[in-house]
Amino acid sequence: MKKRKYFIRTFGCQMNVADSDSIGQHLAGLGMEYASDVAAADIVFINTCSVRQQAEQRALSFVGRLEPFKRANSRLKVVVVGCMAQREGQRLQKQLPIIDLVIGSKDIERFPEIIAGFLSPGTKEDPLMQNPGYSGNSGFAGETPDQGSAHNRTSAFVTIMRGCENFCSYCIVPLVRGPEKSRPAREIIAEIETKVRGGARDITLLGQNVNSYRSGDTDFPELLALANNIRGLDRIRFMTSHPKDFSDRLIDTVADLDKVCEHLHLPLQSGSDRVLASMNRRYTSADYRCIVDKLRKHIPDAALTTDIMVGFPGETDDDFSATLDLLRAVEFDFLFAFKYSPRPGTAAASLSDSVPVALKEQRHSRVLEMIRGISTQKNAKLVNTIQEVLVEGARDGQFVGRTRTNKRVFFSCDASRVGHLIDVRITGIKLNSLTGIPAERPSADYA
Ligand code: SAH
Ligand code: SF4
Ligand code: F3S
Repeated sequence: MKKRKYFIRTFGCQMNVADSDSIGQHLAGLGMEYASDVAAADIVFINTCSVRQQAEQRALSFVGRLEPFKRANSRLKVVVVGCMAQREGQRLQKQLPIIDLVIGSKDIERFPEIIAGFLSPGTKEDPLMQNPGYSGNSGFAGETPDQGSAHNRTSAFVTIMRGCENFCSYCIVPLVRGPEKSRPAREIIAEIETKVRGGARDITLLGQNVNSYRSGDTDFPELLALANNIRGLDRIRFMTSHPKDFSDRLIDTVADLDKVCEHLHLPLQSGSDRVLASMNRRYTSADYRCIVDKLRKHIPDAALTTDIMVGFPGETDDDFSATLDLLRAVEFDFLFAFKYSPRPGTAAASLSDSVPVALKEQRHSRVLEMIRGISTQKNAKLVNTIQEVLVEGARDGQFVGRTRTNKRVFFSCDASRVGHLIDVRITGIKLNSLTGIPAERPSADYA
């Protein structure tokens, strides 16, 4: 019998990428195959994000573009999942009748059950029972190999906690993902071990605020220590850390554990204390600088990246200058810059969106221009150094991998090195990446 095929398009953060992977694994366990394009699919999933209005618009426009496919094949099913599905619910189906099913992000753990009912309505037989690979844990991660995974097999994401209850005043995530919930440590470790058996060497632990992870007696530094013991795993990364919960113990843990990479993503948002208070971030610019000082002292080579938001309600020229001052002082390796977008139901939505669009654009460009300069200078210091690189795969006729500090490097090497650590001498810098040549000295991995 011809296998049914699914296509999946993911918008939003790594959490959604991880959820899409789990969805793909589950469908593969049900005997479905990944379709590399919509035309070949029997069922299309759109995993949505609500964090900014633009993210929602992009998902809606993708759904709109499915109409000719549905006209050509009336049996094609369109399923919208994720954060926007949670926020809009059945309204989405009313707005776009092409949609057959909506599964909100709060129901993502019930995906197997919901999709079983949808795929075989009225049957007593549970399709999950036909899937020996399904492990039935709360992350619904199957034992089946990645199919249609959004990223390479060498690196993988593992969700360690869901939801968020920090209620930063601009943010939709607590509303669409619900309260914070940590997954049991043994379940996380088992999932990492499965991924390592499937070829993963680099794992990123995901949560909206990993610093507040706690399950029974295990807190985040302890979880890192448990993961550090996993044989066959080379690198551990994590995101996102919230500055208000960032502990000295975490810095020590990153410094001490050999597999935990020297890269921290620590969203700053703004350098103005007034704006930070209005955002309900619960730290000041001085608190932030204090963390950076400790980090530089204990892990001098650590890379530091951040998120910056411009145009928050009431952000003045002085507030924005304070952000630029902090960017100059901290010298981030890289950052993501966002223009404030009011989100219905959040506390900030009741404030006037007072910064004109043109000024938001201008501030956004200014931040990007500044980080380009800083990032180029920092990367230039790496030229002629030898970096340990995990080879992830081929791209644009070359091989690509990342340093421990999460910088992408392009180089030529033997295809057999994919999935292995090699030493690379950095020879040049490009925008947001490095170029290099494999170094003479073999790394421990060759042994
Ligand atoms: N949990 C993480 C990231 C959450 S969303 C944290 O605490 O930082 C990722 C980034 O999107 C945020 O850091 C913020 O910079 C941005 N963002 C969130 N809500 C936004 C909004 N309403 N408008 C513009 N950017 C937003
Ligand atoms: Fe949103 Fe703040 Fe939670 Fe991050 S910590 S997800 S910005 S509410
Ligand atoms: Fe977007 Fe949901 Fe992530 S709103 S940023 S996909 S948690």
